[in-house]
Amino acid sequence: MSRLDSFIRRMQAQRDCLNAAAAMITDLPGAVFDLGLGNGRTFDHLRETLPAREVFVFDRVVNANPKSTPDADHLFLGEVVDQLAAVADRFVGAVALVHSDLGIGTAEDAPLTAALIPLLGPLLAPGAVLVANNPFPDADWEALPLPDGVPAERYFMYRAN
Ligand SMILES: C[S@@+](CC[C@H](N)C(=O)[O-])C[C@H]1O[C@@H](n2cnc3c(N)ncnc32)[C@H](O)[C@@H]1O
Repeated sequence: MSRLDSFIRRMQAQRDCLNAAAAMITDLPGAVFDLGLGNGRTFDHLRETLPAREVFVFDRVVNANPKSTPDADHLFLGEVVDQLAAVADRFVGAVALVHSDLGIGTAEDAPLTAALIPLLGPLLAPGAVLVANNPFPDADWEALPLPDGVPAERYFMYRAN
């Protein structure tokens, strides 16, 4: 498979998982966290798909198109673990959907995903959905089946208890 084909399939999987997660939280109030602004593609998709939700984005830098850059009230700039710790009191049990698109999607990211688990756990509303480019094997969350057509381990979905 060419790198172009691989990239397209990863983006399709990402979009299909985000759309499935958005449908799963229809009856669950709460904010959306997008971990990793990048060029703002998933932020833009989430705010379009979930227009009634507040979407908060975390990144250490802003490299997005200005049209896909959150306003200052919805952007937490810095190391994601530091920023999640800084907003912990504000969002206890108040997040309905997290998309984690940090790192490079390989085993090298394991220390970061491990560090995210205790930070995200208290923020997730019961029934909240986590969509991620990396597995969270040590989290006490239910692994969810992926949407039809998304191959195993191309993307990951979990539901908080
Ligand atoms: C793959 S990109 C995100 C792409 C984005 N979801 C999109 O659709 O454009 C990953 C982003 O995560 C950020 N990032 C990676 N590790 C981070 C960390 N430890 N703290 C904060 N930001 C981080 C990078 O700066 C990068 O912008």
